[in-house]
Amino acid sequence: MVRVLPLFALAALSFSPVRGIELDVTSVDSIKSAASSLASQLVSYYTANSTGRATGILPSPYNWWEAGALFDTLIQYSHLTGDTQYDSLIETGLLSQVGSNSDFMPVNQSATEGNDDQATWALAAMSAAEAQFTNSNNTNTKWLTLADTVFNILTQRWDTSTCSGGLRWQIYSFNQGFDYKNTASNGHFFQLASRLARFTGNATYETWANVAYNWTKGAGFIDSKWNVYDGASIVNANCSDITKIQFSYTAGSYLSGVAHMYNLTNGNSKWKTELDGLLNRTLSVFWENGTVKAATEIACEKTESCTIDMIPMKGLLGHWLADTLQMAPYTTATISSLYTSSAQAAAAACDDTGCSEYWDGKHTGTGGNSTGDVGTSIDALSFVQGLLWQDAGLDGLPATVNGTAVAPPNTTTTATGAGATATKKSEGMAMRAGMGVLSGVLGSMMWLML
Ligand SMILES: *[C@@H]1O[C@H](CO)[C@@H](O)[C@H](O)[C@H]1NC(C)=O
Ligand SMILES: *[C@@H]1O[C@H](CO)[C@@H](O)[C@H](O)[C@H]1NC(C)=O
Ligand SMILES: *[C@@H]1O[C@H](CO)[C@@H](O)[C@H](O)[C@H]1NC(C)=O
Ligand SMILES: *[C@@H]1O[C@H](CO)[C@@H](O)[C@H](O)[C@H]1NC(C)=O
Ligand SMILES: *[C@@H]1O[C@H](CO)[C@@H](O)[C@H](O)[C@H]1NC(C)=O
Ligand SMILES: *[C@@H]1O[C@H](CO)[C@@H](O)[C@H](O)[C@H]1NC(C)=O
Ligand SMILES: *[C@@H]1O[C@H](CO)[C@@H](O)[C@H](O)[C@H]1NC(C)=O
Ligand SMILES: *[C@@H]1O[C@H](CO)[C@@H](O)[C@H](O)[C@H]1NC(C)=O
Ligand SMILES: *[C@@H]1O[C@H](CO)[C@@H](O)[C@H](O)[C@H]1NC(C)=O
Ligand SMILES: *[C@@H]1O[C@H](CO)[C@@H](O)[C@H](O)[C@H]1NC(C)=O
Ligand SMILES: *[C@@H]1O[C@H](CO)[C@@H](O)[C@H](O)[C@H]1NC(C)=O
Ligand SMILES: *[C@@H]1O[C@H](CO)[C@@H](O)[C@H](O)[C@H]1NC(C)=O
Repeated sequence: MVRVLPLFALAALSFSPVRGIELDVTSVDSIKSAASSLASQLVSYYTANSTGRATGILPSPYNWWEAGALFDTLIQYSHLTGDTQYDSLIETGLLSQVGSNSDFMPVNQSATEGNDDQATWALAAMSAAEAQFTNSNNTNTKWLTLADTVFNILTQRWDTSTCSGGLRWQIYSFNQGFDYKNTASNGHFFQLASRLARFTGNATYETWANVAYNWTKGAGFIDSKWNVYDGASIVNANCSDITKIQFSYTAGSYLSGVAHMYNLTNGNSKWKTELDGLLNRTLSVFWENGTVKAATEIACEKTESCTIDMIPMKGLLGHWLADTLQMAPYTTATISSLYTSSAQAAAAACDDTGCSEYWDGKHTGTGGNSTGDVGTSIDALSFVQGLLWQDAGLDGLPATVNGTAVAPPNTTTTATGAGATATKKSEGMAMRAGMGVLSGVLGSMMWLML
């Protein structure tokens, strides 16, 4: 099991600096040990038993989607390290939020969640299917059905009435952001479709992956240089007045989707062109043209203004870069150096009490979230455990359990939203879901950024 992988051989340093969690990137045992510490820290923020809080969610002020991202990160942890101690906690947590229609619209969240939030949970279910993750029925069909159900709901919300297509950010018209189409929702939908396509071979998913990607580029949300922007309002100028803020996880979401399409099509040149362009640009943007060694959330870290929702974003990029490495191994030469130095910087920014959001060594003890939270733990764990990508086996292949083909899903769920009405919850109950907080922040940040 212990072998020196090409990825690690490229590392500039074998050991991380003196502070922080020890990490020797040339040693699988050391990587697993560091990942184990970070996973334990992440789980400690999710204390499902305490204070009467429901299973599957994080305490205030965390938003619902971040718990979905936490479980997805821990599935990756179990899959890459083989440490299954959290499997039942993950399974219980994920299944607690599926809701009565098994579509990740539980009653406590359904009035406020956005398409991106729902898709975050569906991507976690997809990860569980691909990893043949445990569930109480001992088959991965249930995970696949959940992912397929959300996929079908999102296709029903695909909105050609404005901007020639695309998903809106929000599901219901009474939520701020219903008039906005964003790359988080559309990128997650594209990624979900591409992973379902590759996992099942069902052409319906492939068709939708093409539609979603084609629309995103046509709308200019991904520009000719492969910058991935946040989105645009449907009200002014028909989505042409684009909010040009770039967040790492939306680039990462499209990157993962493109890598899965590349793999599905056995290296089709259209997808290779997209993968090369998106990868090159993403690494340039979030590693500041190679002037920094660690992934940086450029939209907010510089100004120490990352919100609680922005902090875990670069960890999701790290997660999806590791998936990209699996789906398109030729990208190792491009990704490995910056990836490895980021993992080292992340480990160096952590200690027993938590991880700093900042990996540049310049923010110790000051600014933003240097004390640690769920997001900073997701960030560090994702990059550190991702170093094990090559030991993960044929991720997502094949869609079988014990050699028997997985039954294709057969769901008939009808979507709500996109004009549908629902009873809005009282302010007290309605936790502002997902990226909802962004809309206000985005408005003010635009003036800062542009
Ligand atoms: C809940 O509490 C029980 C008993 O103390 C413990 O065994 C279990 O691990 C806890 N579960 C979680 C998710 O913390
Ligand atoms: C919904 O919220 C209520 C009140 O906070 C809580 O008691 C219940 O356990 C929650 N249900 C779920 C599925 O999270
Ligand atoms: C197992 O699957 C069956 C059939 O789909 C379902 O009725 C049952 O609720 C599942 N059991 C659990 C524990 O999820
Ligand atoms: C798959 O194989 C394992 C090991 O033999 C067994 O425990 C498990 O029940 C099998 N799962 C299914 C769905 O047959
Ligand atoms: C928006 O663009 C679409 C497609 O280009 C067009 O059909 C539609 O009429 C436009 N709507 C407005 C309000 O300009
Ligand atoms: C392919 O997936 C779609 C979407 O879930 C479903 O409607 C269709 O029945 C599936 N086709 C086959 C052949 O399984
Ligand atoms: C989208 O698809 C149409 C039809 O295949 C094609 O003409 C167009 O160039 C595509 N747009 C982009 C941006 O890929
Ligand atoms: C992206 O491509 C440009 C032009 O080929 C190159 O100079 C740059 O180093 C590449 N960036 C990365 C991160 O690979
Ligand atoms: C990176 O290079 C591009 C293209 O030369 C430039 O527009 C951008 O400002 C640079 N970014 C940083 C952070 O240096
Ligand atoms: C940073 O983490 C602390 C402790 O979890 C939390 O109270 C605070 O709200 C976080 N700050 C931001 C900006 O997220
Ligand atoms: C697709 O992914 C598998 C699993 O990682 C890999 O072995 C194969 O080389 C990939 N295909 C291409 C065209 O890169
Ligand atoms: C799919 O579900 C529908 C509605 O529940 C049912 O009528 C149909 O027989 C199912 N098809 C298969 C192949 O299970």
